[in-house]
Amino acid sequence: MMTKILKINPISPEPSKIKEAAEVINRGGTVAFPTETVYGLGADALNPEAIRKVFKAKGRPPDNPLIVHISDMDTFQLVAKKPVKAAIDLINRFWPGPLTIIVKKKKIVPGIVTGGLDTVAVRMPDNKIALSLIKMAGVPLVAPSANLSGKPSPTRSRDVAADLSGKIDVIIDGGKTRIGIESTVIDMTTSPPTLLRPGGLPVEEIEKVTGPLQGFLASHESKPATSPGMKYRHYAPKARMVIIVGDSDAVQSDIMKLAEKGLKDGEKVGILAFHKEFRVKGCITKYAGSRPGTVAGRLFDILREFDKDGVDLIISEPYGGSGLKLGIADRLRRAAGLK
Ligand code: TXA
Ligand code: MG
Repeated sequence: MMTKILKINPISPEPSKIKEAAEVINRGGTVAFPTETVYGLGADALNPEAIRKVFKAKGRPPDNPLIVHISDMDTFQLVAKKPVKAAIDLINRFWPGPLTIIVKKKKIVPGIVTGGLDTVAVRMPDNKIALSLIKMAGVPLVAPSANLSGKPSPTRSRDVAADLSGKIDVIIDGGKTRIGIESTVIDMTTSPPTLLRPGGLPVEEIEKVTGPLQGFLASHESKPATSPGMKYRHYAPKARMVIIVGDSDAVQSDIMKLAEKGLKDGEKVGILAFHKEFRVKGCITKYAGSRPGTVAGRLFDILREFDKDGVDLIISEPYGGSGLKLGIADRLRRAAGLK
């Protein structure tokens, strides 16, 4: 299949182009579009045939449910049963924005969206192209991240094209996404609510509204796989990846040692640095910045660049903490296969 690239102005989306993309959705097609977090692969959330195409294009396991994207609260009521008050409070405070909530689903949502669960994930993205596309299509859209299953999520249209060109109908090019990691996912059907995936909205902001969340240990050492998607290897570059932990001197010397060993074994070695411009002779160093907003914006990009460079081994400095850093640390650990 030929994939059409549609360049759309992110500040003031051209209605004729949005209409063209919406018509593809309404015909049961697939359209990748930007959100404020990452690019999503959109299809009509009420059309099982269209959704099947999304799973197929991504190579996504059928038991990993999709997020339903909406542009107004009438559509929320169409897909979701009335949630608890704390969920309404979150919606009022953070939508549109990088927050996904899990609520009880209504019958209209096909089982293929939710992997057979009686709950549905819903979010209202904070991106003009996304919102006008959903509105124009007149239906909610499923939109998993627009990458091949297991790969880092795309933050630009060219990343989407690299993974999905020839497999989907349209890619909207709406520039680089603002945040760069996916939404925070909270299950509002449990009491207290459960953090399923840290992400673009800091957990601390959510807890100000809901009180303490359960489920995701801040220590990151172990945690229950409550969200079906979290059990899969994810965000992974082709290279082996290792995160070095410890105090900064130990980290520096361990990175050196591991890099030298890799080089000696004839490997192409990449170093992912956060805290300083860190160089080891013969290695490709990429600097993700240190401020969380900068790191979130660059992380997936850098992982994809390492792949393009044909790196065999990525050695990463440690990164973590609270707020947005929690989501970044999670993606980093998953990219390293939890090593
Ligand atoms: O920022 C985002 O959320 C992006 C943009 C495109 O909106 N989308 C995204 O979708 O990251 P996806 O499909 O890559 O991740 C959805 C996550 C998965 O971990 C999935 O298992 C979980 O949400 N999820 C979806 N429905 C669920 C449900 N009913 N119960 C528990 N987890 C659910
Ligand atoms: Mg994904």
